[in-house]
Amino acid sequence: MEEFHKIRRLPPYVFEQVNRLKASARSRGADIIDLGMGNPDLPTPQAIVDKLCDVVRDPRTHRYSSSRGIPGLRRAQANYYARRFGVKLDPDTQVVATLGSKEGFANMAQAITAPGDVILCPNPTYPIHAFGFIMSGGVIRAMQAEPDDNFLPALERAVRYSTPKPLALILNYPANPTAFTASVDFYKDVVAFARKHDLIILSDLAYSEIYFDGTPPPSVLEVPGAMDVTVEFTSMSKTFSMPGWRMGFAVGNERLIAALSRVKSYLDYGAFTPIQVAATAALNSDGTEIEEVRSIYHRRRDVLVESFARAGWDVPAPPATMFAWAPIPEPYRHLGSLEFSKLLVEKADVAVAPGIGFGEFGDDHVRIALVENEHRVRQAARNIKRFLSQAPESADNVIPLGARR
Ligand SMILES: Cc1ncc(COP(=O)(O)O)c(C=O)c1O
Repeated sequence: MEEFHKIRRLPPYVFEQVNRLKASARSRGADIIDLGMGNPDLPTPQAIVDKLCDVVRDPRTHRYSSSRGIPGLRRAQANYYARRFGVKLDPDTQVVATLGSKEGFANMAQAITAPGDVILCPNPTYPIHAFGFIMSGGVIRAMQAEPDDNFLPALERAVRYSTPKPLALILNYPANPTAFTASVDFYKDVVAFARKHDLIILSDLAYSEIYFDGTPPPSVLEVPGAMDVTVEFTSMSKTFSMPGWRMGFAVGNERLIAALSRVKSYLDYGAFTPIQVAATAALNSDGTEIEEVRSIYHRRRDVLVESFARAGWDVPAPPATMFAWAPIPEPYRHLGSLEFSKLLVEKADVAVAPGIGFGEFGDDHVRIALVENEHRVRQAARNIKRFLSQAPESADNVIPLGARR
């Protein structure tokens, strides 16, 4: 029987293949160091957990909540934008709480896309950026992920040569998986272009607080006039180590926020009220927790870069995010990222995410997530050193696992 139209457009998750190999190695007793998924391992700060526990005791919080988010939570997010970016938001019309930023992004795609609409999407990128729109009937045109001097000319070409004219442009800085970061000047150029060409900007700012070089990543909304064309998504998953709580936000242009709110009003009743109240407390707190989370990732990043370099693998230090984007060592590059990742699980007991899972232009890299402690990261480096020291002189000697019997 032919597969359903939508399902045919959703390839099986590439990461599943590495996960399966990881699970079978673990069942044989191997101690796999898992730097694959971007699933934060740090506990949610105690004060936030305590707040949830307090609030959940009140049965009034057990009813359906508010789909757009309780007013106090939307106010707290507006205050965060004012404090952090100097951006003024109306909590009633320019802020909506989402069930994690991923849900918000996917339902925004659902809200605004007509069949065949063209979306400009970075490649490589976090999968929902493309697949949220593919599920909504859109068509993806790949853009370079790097916000360098070639970006604007590429954007001009994309608009000139797309029929119909593109509906939206997706930005994600600091970027998953590449850790590219963007400046306000870059955003100024993009916003001017988007306003001129009536292009919606969807900015994924999930890593707004995970940065290491002293420069806090800006918001696109800092650019005057950006509000006319932009919605930005933020997440509590990484900032406060709350990935399982499913709490994020979309903020920005009123018409777009209203469209997302309308779709959501048909789909959900909002996050569980105690989660929203605890999230409000987190956003209103003094920022100490955020600093702690940031400094843990910072130390792990330094340990990773330094210990992997000693192991013979030069990994560029990411300026932000919880990921290093590592070029596959030369002797293995021809294998591609999936086979190389499988080899690392099998021969080095280390799991990473193959770059191909983020798009075809990611295939000569793997993504290494900072989700194990420093001791485990050092252990991973030792395992990799052993593995690389056995590296074949010539790449041709490496048989991809897929080709084995
Ligand atoms: C760039 C990016 N956007 C969004 C998300 C999803 O975040 P959330 O947990 O808020 O859905 C992630 C998670 O890894 C991400 O890396």
